Amino acid sequence: MAKIRKVVLPVAGLGTRMLPATRVLPKEMLPVVDKPIVQYAVEEAMASGIEEIILVSGRGKSLIEDHFDRAVELFETLARRGRRAELQRLLAQTPEPGAIVATRQQEPKGLGHAVWCARHLVGREPFAVVLVDDLIDAPVPCLAQMIAVHERTGGNVVAVVEVPRDHTARYGIVAPGADDGRVVEIRGLVEKPAPDAAPSRLAVIGRYILLPEVMDELARHEIGAGGEIQLTDAMARLIGRQPFHGLRFEGRRFDCGDRLGYLEAIVALAAKRPDIGPAFREILARYS
Ligand code: G1P
Repeated sequence: MAKIRKVVLPVAGLGTRMLPATRVLPKEMLPVVDKPIVQYAVEEAMASGIEEIILVSGRGKSLIEDHFDRAVELFETLARRGRRAELQRLLAQTPEPGAIVATRQQEPKGLGHAVWCARHLVGREPFAVVLVDDLIDAPVPCLAQMIAVHERTGGNVVAVVEVPRDHTARYGIVAPGADDGRVVEIRGLVEKPAPDAAPSRLAVIGRYILLPEVMDELARHEIGAGGEIQLTDAMARLIGRQPFHGLRFEGRRFDCGDRLGYLEAIVALAAKRPDIGPAFREILARYS
């Protein structure tokens, strides 16, 4: 079975839910504690054995590429000042030369279109997609958990969580088949159904392992929910032709594209940090 070597990170979104912070700053560069949101996704991918990171970027987003570059002046200054541990940490977080590449989604035509923009960089091999807004804190990286399932079942694997019925219109929703409580067979997928039309409360969140045929479906440029080219629709057309499973992963997901989800991520991750956690929890107690 082909190894999952590449991840696509669609980072062209405008971040309108986080205005005014995102007038100039890409939403992916907003910090959660002391790391930009996008770095959590890159670290998760690297810790899951991914070798190549493909950014599908947009105008005004070049800061994201700069962030993962070698900041030679900064690194030299840290070395001169003897701040070796910090420097080592930064170096470990920097992808090797050539391991991160960027292309652009020239128009905002939807998630499916963004993934399709990476088709030449992906080539004809199975690949991963990570939606950076969905920050996942997990004992084993979520993507690694999914790759393990893919190695067993083959085919496509998506991350799923149970959501309240009145939230179905925010997500791709699964029509479930056989379900062992952890891995669920996917019989159908609907993008953002109204609560009464939703086939379940099982929502796809931003982690996907996909076979290359999804690119052929995306190439049809069919318009779906919200007038956009939807990844969900392209995946739905592959059901029945290829294995399709959802994984209830172990870990917590925070929607960092939303103000409250973003704040919760900061609180949750700061509170568990060994260095600042104890002092931060004392501060938090003053506000409850
Ligand atoms: C996208 C997908 C949707 C998925 C969601 C997960 O929607 O289209 O199927 O459930 O991400 O976060 P978006 O959040 O971009 O509207």
